[in-house]
Amino acid sequence: MRVLGIETSCDETAVAIVDSDRRILAQKILSQTADHAPFGGVVPEIAARAHIHHLERLTHEALQECKFTMKDIDGIAVTAGPGLIGGLIVGVMTAKGIASAANKPCIAVNHLEGHALTARLTHHIAFPFLLLLVSGGHCQILLVRGIGNYTRIGTTIDDAIGEAFDKVAKMLNIPYPGGPEVEKRALDGNPKAFQFPRPLIDRPHCDFSLAGLKTAVLRTKQQLEEKAPLTDQQVADICASFQQAVTDIIENRLMNAIAEVKKLCPENRRLVVSGGVAANKAIRATLEALSERNGLEFTAPPLNLCTDNAAMIAWVGLERLQNHEADALDFVPRARWPLDPKAVTR
Ligand code: KG4
Ligand code: ZN
Repeated sequence: MRVLGIETSCDETAVAIVDSDRRILAQKILSQTADHAPFGGVVPEIAARAHIHHLERLTHEALQECKFTMKDIDGIAVTAGPGLIGGLIVGVMTAKGIASAANKPCIAVNHLEGHALTARLTHHIAFPFLLLLVSGGHCQILLVRGIGNYTRIGTTIDDAIGEAFDKVAKMLNIPYPGGPEVEKRALDGNPKAFQFPRPLIDRPHCDFSLAGLKTAVLRTKQQLEEKAPLTDQQVADICASFQQAVTDIIENRLMNAIAEVKKLCPENRRLVVSGGVAANKAIRATLEALSERNGLEFTAPPLNLCTDNAAMIAWVGLERLQNHEADALDFVPRARWPLDPKAVTR
């Protein structure tokens, strides 16, 4: 079985084709970073226009690369939410158009489910698993028991972790997107240079809070700047200390989550990390050590499949199609769409 996937929920226009042997046959990702960089963040209108501009061409290129026509494709999977509504509309209308013209099934995919199931595509892992989903717009700990079977264990009460990385970068005049660049600068910094707060740490639940940490970084930066402009070393020290605080918060929240999942699902043997922030090597290393201490296998998808891509969307479509779960063509894009019905969208 082969599925064509389309992802347009944020600032990547992406198309991919995957098959049931877990091969990524084509993978096109057009990042709009340069278009948004002058504004220091994603501008929804610019994103939607760029998706309109590039999606059709990328779809043709993906098919051409495999020497396929639509006859060789068994279904079209598209991100139908959550995300920026303009971009979602572009992807969903394109997917419906292709599905209708080629008479193929269409699958409306939740973007978060794409991140959640990526490790099944790349590492062939079985259910259940504990998932840390950390990206620019989302921050959740989930127990994944099966396709469509997600239990939220924890979430953020304010910012997502990627969002906090991006905001700290902006404060320090580090170009967008901030996460990878903050990680790079942190390599030259001292993680103990500044004692930033670790909000909610040691509280009994598994929720996150990043707002206080972000404000503390801003205050430190302003205090330093009252004396002199920031040096490169000070920027590196702030980045390293911030990243260390985030890593400590994640580790502490997950310790609680692991304990909770031991009660909820004693057969769980695995921790998976996914979403853009999973590309951070310091965070990955901490998660790996935490898993080892708790007798869990640790799985992290390759870096290029942690950030937004269409292979993960095609894969969810394929898993759902194998379960005979195609959608009627009247589905609508959803800016908000929690994975767990009880969840807060973050
Ligand atoms: O999953 P993703 O591509 O898009 C969303 O669904 O949000 O995640 C993008 C987020 C951005 O906030 C970006 O700054 C963050 O992931 N990110 C990182 C790193 N690479 C990407 N954060 C920390 N360290 C990184 N290396
Ligand atoms: Zn994402």
